[in-house]
Amino acid sequence: MKIQNDLFLRAAQGEKIERPPVWLMRQAGRILPQYRALRAKLSGFKELVETPHLAAEVTIQPVDELDVDAAIIFSDILVIPEVMGLEYQMVEKKGPWFPNTIQNIDDVKKLRSGAEAAADLHYVYEALKITKEELHQRIPLIGFSGAPWTLLSYMIEGSGSKTFSKAKKFLYTQPEAAHLLLDKLADTIIVYLKNKINAGADLVQIFDSWAGILSPEQYKEFSLPYIKKICAAISEAPITIFAKGAWFVLKDLQEIEANVIGLDWNTRPEFARELLGNKQVVQGNLDPCLLYASHKEIKEKTLEMIEKFQGHHIVNLGHGVYPDTPLDGVKCFVNTVKEFEY
Ligand code: CP3
Repeated sequence: MKIQNDLFLRAAQGEKIERPPVWLMRQAGRILPQYRALRAKLSGFKELVETPHLAAEVTIQPVDELDVDAAIIFSDILVIPEVMGLEYQMVEKKGPWFPNTIQNIDDVKKLRSGAEAAADLHYVYEALKITKEELHQRIPLIGFSGAPWTLLSYMIEGSGSKTFSKAKKFLYTQPEAAHLLLDKLADTIIVYLKNKINAGADLVQIFDSWAGILSPEQYKEFSLPYIKKICAAISEAPITIFAKGAWFVLKDLQEIEANVIGLDWNTRPEFARELLGNKQVVQGNLDPCLLYASHKEIKEKTLEMIEKFQGHHIVNLGHGVYPDTPLDGVKCFVNTVKEFEY
């Protein structure tokens, strides 16, 4: 059976479409009262991630509530470091924390990788299968992974960071260990994404959330080649690359075999279009904080952005929606796009 609303997939493949599709990064989560209610009954975030029917339920919540054009499977990027051998915890109100971190090349050598590690993420594949069934082909389902550099940064730092100076220090002082780790991550991510596609993901998105922390030279040495490797290995579904803060390598991203390039809110649409041309579709890129503004302003800025991109565009925010965003602001944003016609 064909997907009923396949606007998102057609847009991702560069087809000319009647209006841009719309979804939000982090749409499955705390902006929804039904998510908060379910979450309150559980032991923690990981229980939700690791229980397939619950992960499927929260994946579908924003589809029902917001009527977006794509669903994104509820999970986290940190499941990959975990199956490679570094367990993570999600500390309430603080975020991710790793009891053990990577210090040197011996630690890297001990990590599992590739098919062996990816096989352990059976709960994610099961969640995709259940979600796919329960969506009844209403809209496409997105699978995702963190990019090797972003995952490395958590594995070195052990948590989030303002500067990521430990992770950057690792690149400068132990480049050989860094390359080995990035390669092991890429090999694991490739199998993981292929398994996700087999389980029902119609497109996969790679989140390089901390791309903007690196210098252009470092980005070209430590992130880009591994994203390239992943993209070259995956031909089973379209791919989106979201490298936050990486406006300085947009031109290089153009040479990657990705269908869609995600943009953060610091990137002017005209600038991105000039560098990328129409070869790739762009996704983004309103400031998530705009959704705190008046409905009049949300509407105006959303339409202004659509006009500026001039097609080949999937509407989204420039990063994940913040948990305290008013739901009616989110709805105003989604509905503005849905009422638009090229
Ligand atoms: O709706 C969706 O986008 C799907 C779900 C999703 C989550 N995490 C759920 C989540 C996705 C795509 C992610 C990816 C992710 N996780 C990224 C890349 C995207 C980005 O935002 O840059 C990163 C860097 C992480 C790591 C992570 N997970 C952090 C830093 C945190 C704590 C910050 C926070 O928002 O609380 C998480 C936890 C997390 N992942 C939550 C959700 C819904 C909050 C969990 C909760 O307490 O309920």
